[in-house]
Amino acid sequence: MIKFENVSKSFGDIKAIDNVNFEIADGEFVFISGPSGAGKTTLLHLLLGEYHPSAGEVIFDETKVSQIPKKELPFFRRKIGVVFQDYRLLPERTVRENVEVALAVAGVSEEEWVKRADQVLKLVGILDRAQLFPSQLSGGEAQRVSLARALVTNPRVIFADEPTGNLDWETADAIMDLFHEINKEGKTVIIASHHKAIIDKMDKRVIELKKGELVHDSGHGKHKKR
Ligand SMILES: Nc1ncnc2c1ncn2[C@@H]1O[C@H](COP(=O)(O)OP(=O)(O)OP(=O)(O)O)[C@@H](O)[C@H]1O
Ligand SMILES: [Mg+2]
Repeated sequence: MIKFENVSKSFGDIKAIDNVNFEIADGEFVFISGPSGAGKTTLLHLLLGEYHPSAGEVIFDETKVSQIPKKELPFFRRKIGVVFQDYRLLPERTVRENVEVALAVAGVSEEEWVKRADQVLKLVGILDRAQLFPSQLSGGEAQRVSLARALVTNPRVIFADEPTGNLDWETADAIMDLFHEINKEGKTVIIASHHKAIIDKMDKRVIELKKGELVHDSGHGKHKKR
């Protein structure tokens, strides 16, 4: 369970997040929508404990994220797989190695790497590109590798920041199918996006931000179209 309780985050005079309240239950699929500068990425940083709220609390299960001791934060963050808008792949490593690095950081023993990397690369449909380097991939393929890397450590929550920002409609739609599959297998999926056509098509819960304020929340569990 993820809960934002009266959360505000200011940077000097800028209120990036302004008294926001919502709760996301385990297994939900939620879009965080809103125009550029609305506070979507700030929300992600707050959830990861990278920023502390100026007011209010971010709560994960029963834990106040701001009170997690610094040395425990890396362990906490493993519960959340993050897909970055700009992919953040290591350019000098192959697709497979990019995924394996996540396993190494998480302390997974090396004997398991091949099996686990194969599993997620297959899931995202990119196993046949495993030996390529990021510069040799299309945008959609790089996005898939980024998703595979987020999934390989088996986090409970996937947070994707604008995962379809740079993609054509068809590729974006295929990526959304993947998120849908992942959600069906029980993971909580949170997607920050201003891709309105995609959000409408998916028909999931939407939390809408505007200038840091939560202006609309379509609510839990009413969206079952897919
Ligand atoms: N580290 C920071 N220092 C100062 N201001 C910041 C910082 N991070 C975010 N902001 C401000 O907070 C506001 C929200 O930024 P945020 O990146 O969360 O928006 P966003 O909804 O993710 O936008 P986009 O769709 O363009 O990615 C912006 O006005 C931004 O300038
Ligand atoms: Mg952003």
